[in-house]
Amino acid sequence: MSNTIVIFGASGDLTSRKLIPALYQLHAKGRLPENTRIVGVSRSPFEHEDWRASLRETTAKYAGKAFDAKTWETFAPNVFYQPGDIKDADSFTTLAEFLTEIEGGQETGRVYYLSTMPQLYGLAIEQLGKAGLAHEENGTRRVIIEKPFGTNLKTAQELNCRIHHVFNEDQIYRIDHYLGKETVQNIFALRFANSIFEPLWNRNFVDHVQITVAEEVVIGRRAGYYDGSGILRDMFQNHLLQLMMITAMEPPARYDGTMVRDEKVKVLHAVRKMTGGDFANQTVRGQYEGYLQEEGVPKGSQTETYAALKLYCDNWRWRGVPFFLRSGKGMSCRTTQIVIQFKNVPHMMFGEKSRVPMGNRLVIQVQPAEGIQLHFETKVPDAGMKTRTNHLDFNFQDSIGGASMPDAYQRLLLDAVQGDASLFARGDEVELAWGIIDPIIEAWKSPASPPLHVYQTGVWGPTEASQWMYDQKREWFDVCPVIK
Ligand code: BG6
Repeated sequence: MSNTIVIFGASGDLTSRKLIPALYQLHAKGRLPENTRIVGVSRSPFEHEDWRASLRETTAKYAGKAFDAKTWETFAPNVFYQPGDIKDADSFTTLAEFLTEIEGGQETGRVYYLSTMPQLYGLAIEQLGKAGLAHEENGTRRVIIEKPFGTNLKTAQELNCRIHHVFNEDQIYRIDHYLGKETVQNIFALRFANSIFEPLWNRNFVDHVQITVAEEVVIGRRAGYYDGSGILRDMFQNHLLQLMMITAMEPPARYDGTMVRDEKVKVLHAVRKMTGGDFANQTVRGQYEGYLQEEGVPKGSQTETYAALKLYCDNWRWRGVPFFLRSGKGMSCRTTQIVIQFKNVPHMMFGEKSRVPMGNRLVIQVQPAEGIQLHFETKVPDAGMKTRTNHLDFNFQDSIGGASMPDAYQRLLLDAVQGDASLFARGDEVELAWGIIDPIIEAWKSPASPPLHVYQTGVWGPTEASQWMYDQKREWFDVCPVIK
């Protein structure tokens, strides 16, 4: 069966920067199923050739060394452009005719990719339905929806409801690009393809878990979106909770869309909702110095660019183990890492002079220095029984011989074409995630909310966040990764 990928929002940045380069690279590697056509739809009046020429330029730029002019020539003829406006029902009738024409009326699997303004997702889906483009009588019909999926629980529920009028849940692929990252998928391998970690992966041995997504960049020209969103909506409801789910979930019986997501969802069900004094005790919020001077930020904005949360997962495996989640813009460096901090030895036998060890630590470096480190104590040579922390270091760059890691969108696009939804968020998952984040956003609006701490850019967030950890006799793993 042939395939057609229809991208709504074709003239947008995501299409040229991520989607087309990813599809091109899949084609170059021979992974894209034969007879896969790509159709861009947006309001701009391009001809096929104009669009191909503009994509050639951007793909050469974003695919970098992976771009090859000859390979592009074999890819470009399958790329088409169809002008259309999501608000106009006739555009969908014309699109339907155009698709039938290029597919020759043959049985074809279609994937509709919504890379438009989020306000248009619901309408786009309804128009697809009305134009008969969701019917599966002549091949599968799937829809990929970019983030953000709603802005709170209520809007996410409404959107789910609108989509479910047209598509069944198994036709819907909600993107969280963190799930497309190789190192995030590697957490499944680390946990469930090894026997030495899983026996320790629980409340008996783990003191706490830290999940950090630090970004060195500031908001740049995104104030229009960012100021209304803030870091909880932008990063926690999706990426950080996804990392937490994969770190905390039980092993599914099989690596399959339903089973993997069933287990992930159980984690969200177990996350203890914050109430009352929890908001003051279990959250820290910050804003980088200079945020208020960014172009487009309203005067006196209280939007947070840094947040740290302490969450608990109330189940047999994790009861009592805090999960510290933090993310910020304008931080010391770009790093996404998950730290499994093991409990300390029950007794240090080497006398008063020996230092108290830190406790073993497993550090999963998600990006940019993709790898894993295991920290443990070793004896300092020629110094009595003094010990110090050393680490074993695994680096993906070494194992792939310096080649670059594939971009997340390659894997996600291919999975959607092939009908594997394991790495996409399910409707209930998205709603449960909002159910955890919404009360915090609400609490932070109230006058009794925890203060918004201002931090300088280039540090690890507000000093209050470090003090908060010290007060709990713990310490953030503030280490910038070494990039090879
Ligand atoms: C996006 C957020 O979802 O993720 C951005 O909207 C953020 O604010 C980005 O910068 C981070 O993604 P990555 O892949 O660069 O870690």
